[in-house]
Amino acid sequence: SSEKAIGDLRLRKYEGFWYLEHLLAPTLAMRDTFVARPTDIILATTPKSGTTWLKALVFCVVHRGRHAPADERHPLLSSSPHDAVPFLHSIYENHLSAPPGPLLEEMPSPRILAVHTPFTALPASVPESACRVVYLCRDPKDVLVSLYHYIDKIRPEGSGTMTPFAEAFDLFCDGVVAFGPMWDNMAGYWKESVARPEEVMFLRYEDLKEDTVGTVRRLAAFLGCPFTDEEEAGGSGAAAEIVALCSMDKMRSVQANRDGTHGNGGSCFKNSAFFRKGEVGDWKAHMTPEMARRLDAIVEEKLRESGLSMIGNP
Ligand code: A3P
Repeated sequence: SSEKAIGDLRLRKYEGFWYLEHLLAPTLAMRDTFVARPTDIILATTPKSGTTWLKALVFCVVHRGRHAPADERHPLLSSSPHDAVPFLHSIYENHLSAPPGPLLEEMPSPRILAVHTPFTALPASVPESACRVVYLCRDPKDVLVSLYHYIDKIRPEGSGTMTPFAEAFDLFCDGVVAFGPMWDNMAGYWKESVARPEEVMFLRYEDLKEDTVGTVRRLAAFLGCPFTDEEEAGGSGAAAEIVALCSMDKMRSVQANRDGTHGNGGSCFKNSAFFRKGEVGDWKAHMTPEMARRLDAIVEEKLRESGLSMIGNP
């Protein structure tokens, strides 16, 4: 069937990918009408791969001239990274009756916009304009565990029983997940990053965790605003200050991330749902070694043709 449900989330399959039902029409409107600028920065991620973290880091890197990361009035100390860097499909979701052209046109350059959309479903103007795309994915085992907790957390009160983990696991192994199959989402951006490394940067949550400062420096260089020696000399260094501001503990403590809400009438929940553990390998607490082997084998098999591997460095 081309329709599935996990908890309260209803998914619909379209052109080989699964979409949250309420996001399919906005995603198609976005694909057909969004006009990218060469200066745009598109953050593309698979859900639960560190989107919130990447949004915060890139916002800080790009706007560090206006907002010093150590400034106590920094925008990320009073607003959610999801407000600082909106999802493009959410902008379209909120403007389905009247296209959001004017709103998007009024946004000053460089616009930073986020998507979970598979590469093949991006607006054609994204590759054509040669704007920068930063892609972030994560070990699918940790994504599934993160997603499962998230879906449970954002369920409206009084809704039915949650899908058992074993069932969500089977669906995930069948490729049923928003904006997935996850491996097809990853392979699409991986191939593009190999073909156009100047415009598409491929990152993994695990690498970001292992060397956050180094990755932030690489991000800045990729986005055309490398850290100068002068910036890196003062205090603890600008890249390290950004990493500290965007750390899990700091972000979690910001009131907008604790009590603020995300989404609109259809699905509205607390921003705190975006901050859970932030660890690599939490799947071990939820999956048997056999489940892990099964999912790893599926992922490696599906990715083989693309040349990407999630085991070891790609
Ligand atoms: P866990 O559920 O494994 O803890 P997304 O932002 O794409 O929805 O991803 C959410 C995941 O990123 C969650 O993973 C969350 O805890 C983690 N995360 C959120 N903010 C983070 C941060 N500042 N640093 C590291 N991980 C973070």
